Amino acid sequence: MSLDIAPAPAQSGCDDLTTDAAPDKSVTWRRLLAQLESVYGADTVAGGLGERVRVAIAAARAARPAPLQALDRQRQADPDWISRSGQSVYTFYVDRFADTLRGVEQRRDYLKALGVRWLHPLPLLKPRPGDSDGGFAVADYRAVDPALGDMPDLSRLAASLHEDGIGLLLDIVSNHTAREHEWAQKARAGDPEYRDYYIVLPDAEAVAAWERELIDVFPATAPGSFTWDAEMGGYVWTTFYPFQWDLNYANPVVFVEMLEILLHLANQGVQGFRLDSAPFLWKRQGTHSRNQPEAYALVEAWRAALDLATPGVVLLAEAIESLEDVLPFFGLEGPGCNLAYNNGVMTALWGGLADGDAGIVRRVMAAAAKRPPRSAWLNYVRCHDDLIWTALSAYAPAEDLARWSAFYGDGGADSFSDGRAFQSATGLAPSTNGMAAALTGLRRDPSPDGPAAARLRLLYGIVHALDGWPLIYMGDELGLDDDLAYAEDPLRAGDGRWLHRPRMDWDLAERRHAAGTLPATLFTAMRAFGETARRLDSLGVRGPAEPFETPSPAVLAFRRGGGPRVLTVFANLSGAPVTLDGIVTAGSVDALTSTSVAGPDLTLDGWGLVWLVSA
Ligand code: GLC
Repeated sequence: MSLDIAPAPAQSGCDDLTTDAAPDKSVTWRRLLAQLESVYGADTVAGGLGERVRVAIAAARAARPAPLQALDRQRQADPDWISRSGQSVYTFYVDRFADTLRGVEQRRDYLKALGVRWLHPLPLLKPRPGDSDGGFAVADYRAVDPALGDMPDLSRLAASLHEDGIGLLLDIVSNHTAREHEWAQKARAGDPEYRDYYIVLPDAEAVAAWERELIDVFPATAPGSFTWDAEMGGYVWTTFYPFQWDLNYANPVVFVEMLEILLHLANQGVQGFRLDSAPFLWKRQGTHSRNQPEAYALVEAWRAALDLATPGVVLLAEAIESLEDVLPFFGLEGPGCNLAYNNGVMTALWGGLADGDAGIVRRVMAAAAKRPPRSAWLNYVRCHDDLIWTALSAYAPAEDLARWSAFYGDGGADSFSDGRAFQSATGLAPSTNGMAAALTGLRRDPSPDGPAAARLRLLYGIVHALDGWPLIYMGDELGLDDDLAYAEDPLRAGDGRWLHRPRMDWDLAERRHAAGTLPATLFTAMRAFGETARRLDSLGVRGPAEPFETPSPAVLAFRRGGGPRVLTVFANLSGAPVTLDGIVTAGSVDALTSTSVAGPDLTLDGWGLVWLVSA
């Protein structure tokens, strides 16, 4: 296949990637070509794809602003930076946090007080009008949502955050565009070149043949994975909502288009990309079309291209799948994503908390420890999506998933949760919606030293101690509750996830200054977890969290022993106090309180937590 090759840009400052003049680069370039060949074949790569990718990289290198080049050099000189502890991320919808990008800039002091090192605003590029799945239906990747600001606002925000040592991480909705995107519009107008950007099936039989294996993401509100479109004269692949058209990555031009978008945004100052819906990038008939080898290869190819043009920029895989399918996103043949959501451990923590039993967390954590070196988990308690129990099916029997789903989603007499059940495919445990405040029971018992607050602190304390970057979901640092009014807004009523996407409550945030209040207690705890996690490196704590058993089933215990000093965490997932005999090594200090722990016995309060650092 031959591809149209874009006119070559000015070559100043671009070395020839194909020679050995720069050995590291030429190795990376060959890695990139090998990945592309594995997906598209050597002929396609030689027939124009390779050259088009080279030109895109060279153009981005030439256009890279000096401060970003400095950042690239700084990160390249310190290849272990990615796995350094305590790189707290704060995630939020721009409009719900601060109305606009300028509003976010005005909240820098709040973010600095919390100690965050990365900001992940949820999608902010120009969405389709009306319902856009919270911005996950992008109509223009090179424009900011006009309701939030414009591209200069984005660059300015990125630059001012950078001065404060905070990186900006942006969603790249790479699996699909909005039906209103220019590519889709051209396809609908009959342009065959753009029709090939999407996947269109001719008739209901073809749809049925594919759908036999596919698992619906929104079975209740968007059943099926295809949408009839009269203008396309066929069924368009739409994994999510009918207005989100899956891109056809079997067409190499789509890969290049998305690469050019990544490079363009990186040069606006974006320091990382969350690759939304990464498992869905490649479709293969007869499979469920998730986590196909080509999806991993495409991610590795993007990584290699960024390594050549914008090496300081990180990639985060959003793959809410079973761990075995998530791990390859870190890279199979070479480096892939630098980070991936640790959704297995997150979901297991909620399950373990419901049962007061650490078994499920231990099993999943042991598997998560297999991530490669120089990568990091994004560890979290809640995010903007539902809690997907089925992602744990390889680690827990269906009755456990059903029990946890019922515990958090339906309440019931013995549950502390006020979460709500969301949809799931027939026969599978429904996933769960709700802010951490609702799921831990804070609505019922908002006392700062009560059990619900202890549960929320416990979960956040655990995710800050794990290897990787801890994520704070907007409002959890204050105990912000659900948005029960979402159902009155016609644009949001149809999607239960809006329950846990409330507006920031700045009055509540002000109360963090009043000692002894719930917001003050949680905010202080969250900031302290981040600060302590950042100290772990200088204390000599490294390496993945390796769980181990203790005599108490309620206690989650793990060790990070990859450095000169060992961090041992004990977390009581139950409400009953526990004593572990003879478990403390002499000379240990609880890093959270900076007090030495006499030992050798350790008593943990209900939902109690210690981070013991060896002498
Ligand atoms: C990801 C997002 C989710 C969105 C979906 C489709 O899973 O996190 O919010 O609905 O992708 O873009």
